Amino acid sequence: MRSVYIETYGCQMNLADTELLFGHLGRHGYQRSDDPAGADVILLNTCAIREHAEERVLGRLGELLRHKARRPDVQLGLAGCMAQHLRDRLREQLPFVDFIVGPDAYRRLPTLLGGGRDPFVDVTLDRSETYADLTPQRETGVRAWVTIMRGCDKFCTFCVVPYVRGRERSLPAEAIIAQVRQLVADGYREVVYLGQTVNAYRDGVVGFGELLRRTQAVEGLERIRFTSPHPSDMSAEVIDAMARCDKVCPQLHLPVQSGSDRVLEMMERGYTSVQYLALVERLRAAIPDLALTTDIIVGFPGETEDDFLATVQLMRAVRYDNAFMFKYSARSGTKAFKWAETVSDAEKGGRLQTIIALQESQAAAINRALIGSTPEVLVEGPARRRTGWSAGKTPQFKTAVFPTNDARPGDLVRVRVQEATAHTLVGCAA
Ligand code: 5AD
Ligand code: SF4
Repeated sequence: MRSVYIETYGCQMNLADTELLFGHLGRHGYQRSDDPAGADVILLNTCAIREHAEERVLGRLGELLRHKARRPDVQLGLAGCMAQHLRDRLREQLPFVDFIVGPDAYRRLPTLLGGGRDPFVDVTLDRSETYADLTPQRETGVRAWVTIMRGCDKFCTFCVVPYVRGRERSLPAEAIIAQVRQLVADGYREVVYLGQTVNAYRDGVVGFGELLRRTQAVEGLERIRFTSPHPSDMSAEVIDAMARCDKVCPQLHLPVQSGSDRVLEMMERGYTSVQYLALVERLRAAIPDLALTTDIIVGFPGETEDDFLATVQLMRAVRYDNAFMFKYSARSGTKAFKWAETVSDAEKGGRLQTIIALQESQAAAINRALIGSTPEVLVEGPARRRTGWSAGKTPQFKTAVFPTNDARPGDLVRVRVQEATAHTLVGCAA
C-alpha cells in the first residue's frame, strides 16, 4: 500500500475536495498519512483567490522539496485552484513538481499517479464533473461538509474562481439527500452545503429552496447550513425555505464586497447597495435572530475615498456579526487585472484597518447584547484555550465555550451567556 499526505489551503470547498481525494485515493490503494516525511505522494491542495495564497504555497513547496531530495521516488504535486491558474508558468518554473491536477481532474489522479515516475499535468475543466459517485473520507466530528454544486457563472471582474473552477454544475438532489441520510447514520448532526454560488443550485428539477425543504425532512438531522450564497440568487423561494425549515440555521454569509454603487458596477456584482440593503431587510423580516456575515474588498481599481466611505456606511447600516475583509489583489485572467491599480498598498492597508476596527466594535456590541440569553449550543469538543471546557456553535454559528461537566460532542446544550467578545460567547450550562 502507498501513502498520501495532503495539505489544504483556502476555502471550505478545498477542505471538502481534500476529503474527496482521500476517499478516492483510498479506494485505489493509498493510505492517508499525516506526515510528509514518510509519504509516497505529497500533494498541496491550493488556493488562487489572492496573490498571498499562491505565495504561501510556493514557500511551502520549497520546504517540502527536502523530502524529494532525500527520497527521489516521492511524487510531489499540486492540486486545486492555483494548479489550474498557474498551470503554464508552474510547469516551467517548478521542474521538480511531478504533477499538476486541476479541480476537475481528481477522478483520474489514481491512474495518473500509478503511471510511473513521469511528470504529468491534467488541467482539463469538465462542465459535467460533480464527483457525485465518489465517497469522501471525512473528518470525524459533528459537522459534515457536503459539496452540492461546483463552479461559478457570475464572473465578478476581480475573481479568478470562474476561470479555475469552471462553469456551474449541481449534483442530483437524490444523490445529496442519500449522502445526508448516510451522514446522519454515521453520527453527524449537522450538514453544511457547499458551493461557489451555493444558492444557484439547480439539478434541472430541484432548486435550492426545494433542496433545503427536502433536507429538512431527513430524520435525525439536527442542523443545516450553507455557504457561500450570492445575493442575486437569494430568491423569495430560498428565503421562504429558510424561514420555514427550523433545521436551517438562522445564519447567512452574504458577500457584499463594497457599499459603493460605482464599485459594485465595476465589479459586475449584479446589485446596487439599495438592493442589497432591501434584501437584508427582507431576510431579517422573514428570519428572526438572523446572524449576517460578509466579505468585503478594499482598494478595488478606481475605489475613491468616497466609495470607501460608502462601504463604511453600509457596514454601519447592516451591522454584520462577522466579516472577512481583504485588500484587493489583482489576479491574472480576470477582467479587472487589465485595469490600472489606483489605490496604493499603504492606502489599502489603512482602509482595511479602518473597517476591521469598525467590525470588531460592532461585533463586540452585538455579542454583548447576548449576555443573559441561553442559545442552544451543538457541542464539538474541548475548548482550545480553557482546559475542562467545551466549545460548540450556536444556531447563529457563534462560538460558545462553557465548563464541560458531562457534555459530549454532538450534545445540544443550553448555555447561559455570561461574557462576550467580538468572536466568542462565554457561559455555563443553563
Ligand atoms: N482580491 C481580494 N479579495 C478577493 N476575493 C475574491 N477575489 C479577490 C481578489 N482578487 C474575496 C471576495 C470573495 C472572497 C472569497 O474572497 O471577497 O467573496
Ligand atoms: Fe468569484 Fe463572484 Fe463567482 Fe463569488 S460569485 S466565486 S466572487 S466570480
